[in-house]
Amino acid sequence: MDWADTHMPVLAQIRERFAAERPLAGIRIGASLHVTAETANLVRALVAGGADVALCASNPLSTQDDVAAALVDRHGARVYAVQGEDTDTYYRHITTVVDGAPQVTMDDGADLVSVIHGARTDLLDGIVGGTEETTTGVLRMRALEAEGALGFPVVAVNDAQTTRLFDNLHGTGQSTLDGILRATNILLAGRTVVVLGYGWCGRGVAVRAKGAGASVIVCEVDPVRALQARLDGYEVMPALDAAERGDVFVCVTGDRDVLGAAHFARMRDGAILANAGHFDVEINLPELRDAAVQPPREVRPQVHEHTLEDGRRLHLLAHGRVVNLAAAEGHPAAVMDLAFAGQALAAEFLVRHAGTLEPRVLAVPGELEREIARLKLASLGIEIDTLSPAQEAYLTSWEQGT
Ligand code: NAI
Repeated sequence: MDWADTHMPVLAQIRERFAAERPLAGIRIGASLHVTAETANLVRALVAGGADVALCASNPLSTQDDVAAALVDRHGARVYAVQGEDTDTYYRHITTVVDGAPQVTMDDGADLVSVIHGARTDLLDGIVGGTEETTTGVLRMRALEAEGALGFPVVAVNDAQTTRLFDNLHGTGQSTLDGILRATNILLAGRTVVVLGYGWCGRGVAVRAKGAGASVIVCEVDPVRALQARLDGYEVMPALDAAERGDVFVCVTGDRDVLGAAHFARMRDGAILANAGHFDVEINLPELRDAAVQPPREVRPQVHEHTLEDGRRLHLLAHGRVVNLAAAEGHPAAVMDLAFAGQALAAEFLVRHAGTLEPRVLAVPGELEREIARLKLASLGIEIDTLSPAQEAYLTSWEQGT
């Protein structure tokens, strides 16, 4: 946690201010986040701001038990998470956090919000607002909003430029390859890496795989993103065609069944299957198990070999769960610094504007974003220019030459 803290200067500055101003004094925050050293530093900032924090996991495999213990022992948070907990325990822990009647929710995948809207609508009135860390969670919140059912405002921290650019592009990009390499120790140079989904995360994965010497194929369903991938220098083709070519497959779509029986039937012997999308539904796991003629064999930690009828072996990483968290350590602290600065400032914003915000999915206010970027640049020792009054007037005027 201390190591992460040294790479999280923006959050550290916010923690110092929070300790002095106590903007969250007495506020109950329920958080469902990956229980990692970086999250611990967010929790420290919230506690410094006066919040009473209860934390559970947002994925059963990403919990760092030592971090969970230290948060309880040294920082006064309540933590309900154990590495590798089964599904029942995972949801029991979420329910425990919900039962604490949080006034602010913090989600990474919308689990708290969906449990509250599904089973504890009695709590809605007491909730000031929530924050959401990831793309899939924002999609789920927007679905609730579209049904007119969202019971409180939710700040889509994920959609902030500071999050998408650093977290999804650089964080997921680097740590996904890190997870694949730690699990397999393969040489990427000379391999063909198939990236399914060319969104923020997919772009980050693709550019790093290319930089490591791999040939990269991109599969997309959005024509604009597919075109962008082609102009960025990758081959683009349907997933069924890529299935025959790839050595390593990385799903980062946020969608389901992106790879299934039809793809497995075409893959080469030794193909490696990884998922970095939020849920473990991107690779159709039941179809993979059905395609195998014997139970999966663990050939290395986090690598399960599935042998097909004709003898080909497909290697599934991290049980099809987020490979960067299950087989590596998730996003580097320097990346989470920005996303979690966004979380901390969004919580402060929700409390400050309690009762005045519509129950909608809200964008991170632009001023908060610029503040985060300013603090980060300052921590990097980087100064930038500012507009002169004449330039400002010029850029906001419709009159030519003024
Ligand atoms: P995005 O919305 O920017 O990109 C997703 C892309 O996948 C889109 O371009 C979409 O057209 C494409 N797509 C959807 N269905 C497809 C299909 N069947 N075949 C091929 N392409 C398809 O989303 P972003 O930000 O890149 O996130 C992707 C996923 O990664 C989400 O589930 C998100 O929650 C997750 N995520 C995971 C992180 C991690 O640490 N592992 C961190 C951040 C996000």
